[in-house]
Amino acid sequence: MALSKKIHDALNEQIAREFQAHFIYRAIAMDLYEKGYDGFAGWMDQHSKEEYGHAERIIHFLRENEARVTLPAVPKPQDTWPTVKGAVEAALQHEKKLTADIHGLHRLADEDGDLATVSMLDWFVSEQVEEEHVVNRLLKRIALAGDSPIGLVVIDNELKGGADAAAGSAGGE
Ligand SMILES: [Fe+2]
Ligand SMILES: [Fe+2]
Repeated sequence: MALSKKIHDALNEQIAREFQAHFIYRAIAMDLYEKGYDGFAGWMDQHSKEEYGHAERIIHFLRENEARVTLPAVPKPQDTWPTVKGAVEAALQHEKKLTADIHGLHRLADEDGDLATVSMLDWFVSEQVEEEHVVNRLLKRIALAGDSPIGLVVIDNELKGGADAAAGSAGGE
């Protein structure tokens, strides 16, 4: 069944938002790396790759449905955040926005009786639950550190250790 124009356009717009998220996380990673937070930067970079993967997932779906993909212009992201907490809060706000977008798309596909798109979006609905959860957990850890720079360094090391272990088990560098 061919995708309706409404769904096709809406999925193209979602590709744009996923690439935008990819850019925002990448920009946060660069800012935090610059400030010496290797662990937080690695975490944001990893997340940035996931957002890229989300865009690719929708691109693949459109291709499979013989629907043309239109790549967007991606807005320039903010490039510095005053605090680590502020940067992670920005990530959470963006995730919440993405969740609302995905839910809107899901409802649209549902109303359209487009079961293939509904099924593809089911994965995204679950993914957003996890995405908000992991960012919320990180914010809770940051709250534990309070205003202590040492506390942030401890979390940064923790994140760096997790990323190194994941790279090791995946046979990475
Ligand atoms: Fe995403
Ligand atoms: Fe995300």
